[in-house]
Amino acid sequence: MAATMRAWTFTSRGTPSSVLKLRNDLPKPSPAMLGPHDVLVKVAYVAVFQGSAAIMNIIPHFNSNLWIPESNFSGLIEAIGRDVQHLKVGDAVFGSPNPKHYTKRETKYNGMMAEFAIIHAGQVVRKPDNIAFDAAAGLAAEGCTILQFCQKTKIKEGDRVLICGASGGLGSVAVQIAKSIVGEEGAVVGICSAANADLVKGLGADEVVDYKSHSRLSDHLAELYSAKPFNVIMDCAGVDDSLYFESPRYLSPDGVFLAGGRMGVTHGGGGILDILSFLVVLQLRMHWPSVLGGTPRTLMFHSGEVIPESMQELPRLVEKGQLRGVIDGEWPMEDAIKAYQRVATGRARGKVVVRVQDV
Ligand SMILES: NC(=O)c1ccc[n+]([C@@H]2O[C@H](COP(=O)([O-])OP(=O)(O)OC[C@H]3O[C@@H](n4cnc5c(N)ncnc54)[C@H](OP(=O)(O)O)[C@@H]3O)[C@@H](O)[C@H]2O)c1
Repeated sequence: MAATMRAWTFTSRGTPSSVLKLRNDLPKPSPAMLGPHDVLVKVAYVAVFQGSAAIMNIIPHFNSNLWIPESNFSGLIEAIGRDVQHLKVGDAVFGSPNPKHYTKRETKYNGMMAEFAIIHAGQVVRKPDNIAFDAAAGLAAEGCTILQFCQKTKIKEGDRVLICGASGGLGSVAVQIAKSIVGEEGAVVGICSAANADLVKGLGADEVVDYKSHSRLSDHLAELYSAKPFNVIMDCAGVDDSLYFESPRYLSPDGVFLAGGRMGVTHGGGGILDILSFLVVLQLRMHWPSVLGGTPRTLMFHSGEVIPESMQELPRLVEKGQLRGVIDGEWPMEDAIKAYQRVATGRARGKVVVRVQDV
């Protein structure tokens, strides 16, 4: 009899609690299915992506094909393809599939919330010993994204960096990586609620600003930082547009504002119009001359991609003690819906993870 495995699946559009089903009868992928550059992993943990609920709820299904959700994972290598050099059977790993590699029928619908999965080896790296499987599960996509944010904004030693949403899945990684680059001469200021101030300071932020204790955050930032403006602002929350429009009061004239979290739609799983209207207004205002109300500061967007160059950097940062995973909470496989509900609050401290199986 063919081996089977457990996996969460969905076959139609809807919210996680309405469409996700836990099945225990899916065929376990076999080593014979591996392409030369693929690996088969035994999944230990997956981290729930903040935008998954929206993806499930917005993207229409034109057939009843089965999808398995989620991408960020940790686990063990079960088998490797013919040309895989940097990994071997039994290695503890973490990673995240890049949709560009979902080209073959057998991997096309396979996310990682399953006991076993096939993934291109370029999106998998060895897990250092100084990080546990649960903490490593949330690092790949967010880590690659933040490394790319830092490259795009050209953050360098000595810079002053402001990070909004510093306690979330993306922001908690941003604080750590930014601090590792700016060093002691530079400064990282994190924006989060007071309840998470100690967490964010513990990740390396030099100062923390509580966005809840000021009716207009931009006025407060101007008071604190107009005399020592930032070189880079990374908005990893994406909920307060005035942070960009008012940025000339606290971002230096040659500074860069990276709107990394402006995907409000992903919190509720609706509101595609929200994104579109924001983009239209923003595009218009970006190109208006400042005399007509345009914001005279460089604005960037970037959608992170899991690529080997970024992935290889992450274990090095972990080994040097410059990057650790922050876990908000852990749910067993059968309670994955509760993990989605926690993410939907928009108040997660770091990553929400699901324990798929013991490895
Ligand atoms: N560009 C990309 O490639 C990329 C990649 C990953 C994620 N994203 C986007 O980034 C956003 C954040 O994702 P995430 O996974 O970090 O979400 P998350 O884990 O839910 O974290 C959101 C954080 O935002 C903070 N926050 C909420 N309201 C705020 C406000 N008014 N001002 C400042 N901070 C506020 C919360 O902090 P407190 O609890 O302390 O209030 C929370 O920790 C999402 O829209 C997601 O789609 C983009």
